[in-house]
Amino acid sequence: MNGLLGIETLERSEIEAILARARHFQAPGRYETLRGKMVVNLFFEASTRTRTSFEIAAKRLGADSVSITASGSSVSKGESLVDTLNTLAAMKPQAIVMRHAASGAPHFLARHLPIPIINAGDGLHEHPTQALLDALTILGRKPALEGLRVAIIGDIAHSRVARSNVHLLSRFGAEVVLCGPASLLPSELLSLAPGIRLTYDMREAISGADVVMMLRVQLERQHEVAMSAGEYFQFYGLRLEHLALAKPDAIVMHPGPINRGRELSSEVADSQRSVILNQVENGIAVRMAVLERVMG
Ligand code: CP
Repeated sequence: MNGLLGIETLERSEIEAILARARHFQAPGRYETLRGKMVVNLFFEASTRTRTSFEIAAKRLGADSVSITASGSSVSKGESLVDTLNTLAAMKPQAIVMRHAASGAPHFLARHLPIPIINAGDGLHEHPTQALLDALTILGRKPALEGLRVAIIGDIAHSRVARSNVHLLSRFGAEVVLCGPASLLPSELLSLAPGIRLTYDMREAISGADVVMMLRVQLERQHEVAMSAGEYFQFYGLRLEHLALAKPDAIVMHPGPINRGRELSSEVADSQRSVILNQVENGIAVRMAVLERVMG
């Protein structure tokens, strides 16, 4: 496995192997399989969960890990992306974990650098480790992905999480319905995978769902904000009353960061149905599995 750029290009067997190894890493402990190796985390966009869990994952595997943000690096002095990456590559890390606002930035660098790149989120394109940790979380509560009905609701247009999840879930036979306001639900999403459904009606999306995955409204990527937080919550905010439409054992997910009172109510976020913090916890195990596979 030479880096990890997206779910779309991963074989089903590779996904299964990562999830199996991640299950092994769910048991707390130090594993030391990457002792003497180094990973650089380069984040050009803000992150709490992804960056921290990559750092913890590297430490649990015994690797050295260095984290750099764009604002604290020489990027702020005008250094180009390629020169920055070449500079880091000269320090001979075994992998570079990268988040960037431009879709395709890690793919471009992977073509020009001799070091494996792990995509920690590129623009509107993919967030592969998020989809892997989401799959691990779902499989902690459900016997299989095949046949599950998964409603992904919110700002689909700007969501790399939605795209990576669509690729993964549909490859494993889940039934995916995407839901959001018309301005955030472009019809070209239908071409992501066969069998995807789109709806603007949140109640329709949730009816009979096994998994309700809420997404953040990405204000930083929107030129015009059509709805206030209150209006958005009225039409697309998840409330306890909605959960009565889903299966009795349905779970609620959100990649975070969550905006209470916009995408979901506090009652839902803090309810027994919510697995949002399990997702965070599983992020460490999944990133250990990915680092080991790429650098090991
Ligand atoms: N889910 C996710 O990517 O969160 P962060 O932006 O905090 O890393």
